Amino acid sequence: MTAPLSTQMAGADAAAIEAAVRCLAGGGLVAFPTETVYGLGADATNAAAVARLYAAKGRPAFNPLIAHVPDRAAAQTLACFDADAGRLAEAFWPGPLTLVLPKAPGCTVAELATAGLDSLALRVPRHALAQKILSCFGRPVVAPSANRSGHVSPTTAAHVLSDLGGRIDLIVDGGATPVGVESTIVACLGEVVLLRPGGTPREAIEHALGRPLADPPASIVGDGDRPLAPGMLASHYAPRARLRLNAERAGPGEALLAFGPAPNAGTAQAAHVLNLSARGDLIEAAANLFSHLRALDASGAKTIAVMPIPHDSLGEAINDRLARAASPR
Ligand code: TXA
Ligand code: MG
Repeated sequence: MTAPLSTQMAGADAAAIEAAVRCLAGGGLVAFPTETVYGLGADATNAAAVARLYAAKGRPAFNPLIAHVPDRAAAQTLACFDADAGRLAEAFWPGPLTLVLPKAPGCTVAELATAGLDSLALRVPRHALAQKILSCFGRPVVAPSANRSGHVSPTTAAHVLSDLGGRIDLIVDGGATPVGVESTIVACLGEVVLLRPGGTPREAIEHALGRPLADPPASIVGDGDRPLAPGMLASHYAPRARLRLNAERAGPGEALLAFGPAPNAGTAQAAHVLNLSARGDLIEAAANLFSHLRALDASGAKTIAVMPIPHDSLGEAINDRLARAASPR
């Protein structure tokens, strides 16, 4: 983990909004209230900031994150709306509904924030403070619930402080959040599927659509009908090339995904080499992971040799994603 930060607290005034925007612009981590729960925000377009966010939450894996924007117009620059998505946005935004949509070409959200997926979760919160921060900042903000991984979602600034104090830069205190449960998540990727029940009731969504919502496919329903993490629905990012993990060097014709200061001799024969972090920094490596994999895949190499990544800190999540990307399909 990185050195502890001193977490500032701010009220709900203009100065707090300005401080939040300044912090986000500098790649910092800001907890702020939405109408559902407190979110931990980072600039969605800054992969390093997103990597710090995963580290602060202590997530063992890179779950895809929700990008928050102030309005439908901002959302439409990032993702593609079909007729159903348009109807739901019209009916429920701003409000506690998240839509999972195909990414738009030129989407500025960092690959790490969507865990390399081609879809993007988007939400327009209704809370006045969240609205002001998002419209003043002018870029999408990823914001998972502002709790340590495995803890319950926070509905007060005090909850956030006790979970994340010393790990994030700023907490904007807007009092208790009115809804108290997370947003409902609906995927509009062809079929309309309920991924997570939440602050917008199913019946209201079905009424707006004019038909029942599809249930998630059986493949994401675990034991006893307990749904797995909604992020499991979309298949994991999978490169076309084969991945060879824990490689000390690249073989002939292989691309090399390097880590650390001195990728050794085999490097010379690798067609394409990208280094996740030459200085061996796991936060920098996480920030580069999905974009480097995509770039090496696009080079046309049949195999990408991947150097060993240490398993501590964000290394656990990096290795989790590499193992999934390497598993045969
Ligand atoms: O109410 C909320 O939604 C709060 C506030 C802060 O906005 N945020 C929140 O974020 O609950 P989080 O990260 O705790 O939950 C987001 C969920 C995760 O379970 C993730 O797997 C899913 O959304 N998700 C994000 N992107 C996805 C995608 N492209 N496909 C499927 N699921 C996705
Ligand atoms: Mg959460």
